[in-house]
Amino acid sequence: MSEIVLDVRDLEAGYEPGVPIVRGASITVAKGEIVVVLGPNGAGKSSFIKAIAGLVPITGGTVFLDGKDITAAPAHTMVRLGLAFVPQTENIFPLMSVEDNLRVACGILERREIPARIEEMYAAFPDLVRQRRTAAGNLSGGQRQMLAVARALIVHPKVLVLDEPSAGLSPKFVSMVFEMLAGIRKSGVTVLLVEQNAKAALAIGDRAYVLVEGKDRHEGIASELWNDPVVAELYLGQRPRKSGTGGGA
Ligand SMILES: Nc1ncnc2c1ncn2[C@@H]1O[C@H](COP(=O)(O)OP(=O)(O)O)[C@@H](O)[C@H]1O
Ligand SMILES: [Mg+2]
Repeated sequence: MSEIVLDVRDLEAGYEPGVPIVRGASITVAKGEIVVVLGPNGAGKSSFIKAIAGLVPITGGTVFLDGKDITAAPAHTMVRLGLAFVPQTENIFPLMSVEDNLRVACGILERREIPARIEEMYAAFPDLVRQRRTAAGNLSGGQRQMLAVARALIVHPKVLVLDEPSAGLSPKFVSMVFEMLAGIRKSGVTVLLVEQNAKAALAIGDRAYVLVEGKDRHEGIASELWNDPVVAELYLGQRPRKSGTGGGA
């Protein structure tokens, strides 16, 4: 029996009253799983995970973290509750050194455990140790994402939520990011991952959901979804073979 860490039920959220963007989306993430959320541009993937992280107003539904209802919890309390969110952009402090970026992410740790925890992050992300004095803004795109993820992991979150960590990176750094995610998976961290790079995300994920127009429309085992005709229709924009669910443009 797998223990559910994140349980999102019928979530509704949006930026303006009366304009729902997330429209009844439900997902679960079990301990140690990497769950991928796919979907066309504008499907509401970022809004969905931002709402989970307390960054977009929720108008309906429930978010449970480790069985605790966190639906109304403000964003700044999420790290303490065990949810670490890595936004797509602006996820590091570019003018601060790599080490200071890690240090300021340690807020909820006991002071005496911080130096050892920073060293553990360097052990997990060897690229960062060589750059510990470098301003984070001077890192490569791939290393920046490593730093962003290390900043999130440093406080031992129950779940790591990532918004498109490979977005905007050159192919070399995309591979670097996915190798890092595969490593995270081995270490047993629970991950909710939004990705445009469907093939690579499905290769490292356990299960995946396809979000369309703010709602979870399809779900499956990650390794099977790439060849799933429903995914091809909903996500890749191919025409259905038989008429059925009416997919969008
Ligand atoms: N800050 C915002 N204010 C108002 N509308 C927004 C905001 N961010 C996103 N949206 C709208 O929400 C919808 C879903 O966007 P988003 O969640 O970014 O989708 P995805 O991440 O799947 O591409 C889009 O129609 C977008 O215009
Ligand atoms: Mg997005």
